[in-house]
Amino acid sequence: MWKQIEDALFTFSAANRKTIIQLFYAGYGVLIVLFLVATFVFGFSLPYTNIFYFLGKGAGFAAAGFFVLAIAAGLIRRFGYSGKLFPLLITYRRHFGISCFLFAFFHAYVVRLLPSFVLAFQGFGFPPFFPFELFGVAALLLLFPLFVTSNDWSTKRMGKWWKRLHSLVYVIVWLIFFHVAVQGGGLMADVLGLVAALEIISLIYRQLTKNKPVAPPPVPPAPAPQQAK
Ligand code: HEM
Repeated sequence: MWKQIEDALFTFSAANRKTIIQLFYAGYGVLIVLFLVATFVFGFSLPYTNIFYFLGKGAGFAAAGFFVLAIAAGLIRRFGYSGKLFPLLITYRRHFGISCFLFAFFHAYVVRLLPSFVLAFQGFGFPPFFPFELFGVAALLLLFPLFVTSNDWSTKRMGKWWKRLHSLVYVIVWLIFFHVAVQGGGLMADVLGLVAALEIISLIYRQLTKNKPVAPPPVPPAPAPQQAK
C-alpha cells in the first residue's frame, strides 16, 4: 500500500514538477500581499484583525509542517532509507524551507509583532515576550540565515560552510518544539518532539553505521524533450 502511494506521488511529481514549483512561487506572492494587507488592517485598527490573527495562527502550524518536510529527507536518509520518497522530498526541499520561513515570519508578525508595534506606536510600550515566545523568536532568527542562503548562488559560494550553516536545523527543531510545547502542547508539539528526538537518534545511528554504504536513491525521470518550434 505504502509502495503504491510512494510510486503515485513520485510519478505525479515527475510529471508536474514545474507546475508544483510555480504554485510555491504563487504562494510566496500571496503571503507578501497578506503581509501588506495585515500591516494596513492593524495599522488602521480595521475590524478584520481577528481574521488575520486566525490566519497568523494557522501560518504557525504551516511553518512547523514545512519545517518537518524540509528536514525529513535528511532524517530518513540517515536511517538508510533509499525509496522514492527521498528524491521527492529533495526535489522540493528548498521550497519547503523557504515556505517555512515565510509562514513563520507571517505568523510572528501577525500574532505578536504587528499588534505590539501598534501598541508601542500609541505610547503603551512594546509588551515583553513570554518565555514560550522567546523560543519562537530564537527559532525565527536562526531560520533567517537559512532562508537567505536557500539558493544556488549561496550553495556554490559557501561550499562546505553551507552544510555547516544548515546544520542549525538540529537546534531549530528543539526551539520550535519548546515554543509549541510550553504554550500547551497538543498534537503538533507531539509531532515536533518526536521529530526532534528522531533527529538525534538518526545522527547517532549514522555515526554507528558510518561504514555501511547507503543505497543510491532512485533518480527522477528526466523531463520530456521540448518539441522543436
Ligand atoms: C518571533 C517569533 C515568534 C513569535 C513571537 C510567536 C508567537 C506565537 C504566539 C503568541 C502564539 C500563540 C497564539 C495563540 O495561541 O493565540 C504562537 C503559537 C504558535 N506558534 Fe509561534 N511565534 C514565533 C515563531 C514561531 C515559529 C518559528 C514557528 C514554527 C516554525 C511557530 C509555530 C507556532 C505554532 C504551531 C503555534 C500554535 C501552537 C498551538 O496553538 O498549539 N512560531 N506563536
